[in-house]
Amino acid sequence: MTTYDAHFRVWRGDSDGGDLKDFTVAVHDGEVVLDIVHRLQATQTPDLAVRWNCKAGKCGSCSAEINGRPRLLCMTRMSVFARDETVTITPLRAFPVIRDLVTDVSFNYAKAREIPSFVPPAGLEPGEYRMKQEDVARSQEFRKCIECFLCQDTCHVVRDHEENKNAFAGPRFLMRVAELDMHPLDAAEETGLDRKRTAQDEHGLGYCNITKCCTEVCPEQIRITDNALIPLKERAVDRKYDPLVWLGNKIGRRKG
Ligand code: SF4
Ligand code: SF4
Ligand code: FES
Repeated sequence: MTTYDAHFRVWRGDSDGGDLKDFTVAVHDGEVVLDIVHRLQATQTPDLAVRWNCKAGKCGSCSAEINGRPRLLCMTRMSVFARDETVTITPLRAFPVIRDLVTDVSFNYAKAREIPSFVPPAGLEPGEYRMKQEDVARSQEFRKCIECFLCQDTCHVVRDHEENKNAFAGPRFLMRVAELDMHPLDAAEETGLDRKRTAQDEHGLGYCNITKCCTEVCPEQIRITDNALIPLKERAVDRKYDPLVWLGNKIGRRKG
């Protein structure tokens, strides 16, 4: 097994402030950045705070920034860095720091609660739902989300603009609105809930200028912008500016 010493800079501090600290840590073949954080805890900084659970890219807990890019600590191989490169690990920038690499991501849970859930169709019992495979496949892509919030962290609408957080749900939750709006059995409209209008008026869809930064950092490779945000924008604009489209949708839905 090959072992070499690598140079790391790790942010240490809390909500009152902090600083980058330098460390030299042994790295073994095949390791990921989370292994190095664990070795740091075991040998030099037993009180270094980091959040993690699965070490398999599935729980979404170990989100941080590595050399300024939002990434999962457990899915970033040390082999992607040159051996003489300094690897800088900092907490997610868009959320308040609790301590060291741990941030308070409760903004995301608050946004999740603002989105009304699936409205079951009247007259159908669970088990009687029938959907086309293409509709199932569409939501399955969105449901791969592990709620790591890397997309939320990277989106420029909130990354350096705390003042936008109230009006903007962020890519993960606009994707959730899009998923429900595309669901062929969602009966929200029959109850008076217009998901396209709420996307615009309550969740800040208009702030998104489709830069695709969210898609680039998604560890599940969900095509957030192309498959959720752009289609939702197209449908919201149709609805807003074309009353015939609105009427057509209404009649089509009734006939269906
Ligand atoms: S595509 Fe939209 S939601 Fe995604 S990062 Fe860009 S502005 Fe944010
Ligand atoms: S959409 Fe991707 S980047 Fe965003 S929270 Fe889900 S898994 Fe993470
Ligand atoms: S520890 Fe679970 S995604 Fe990294």
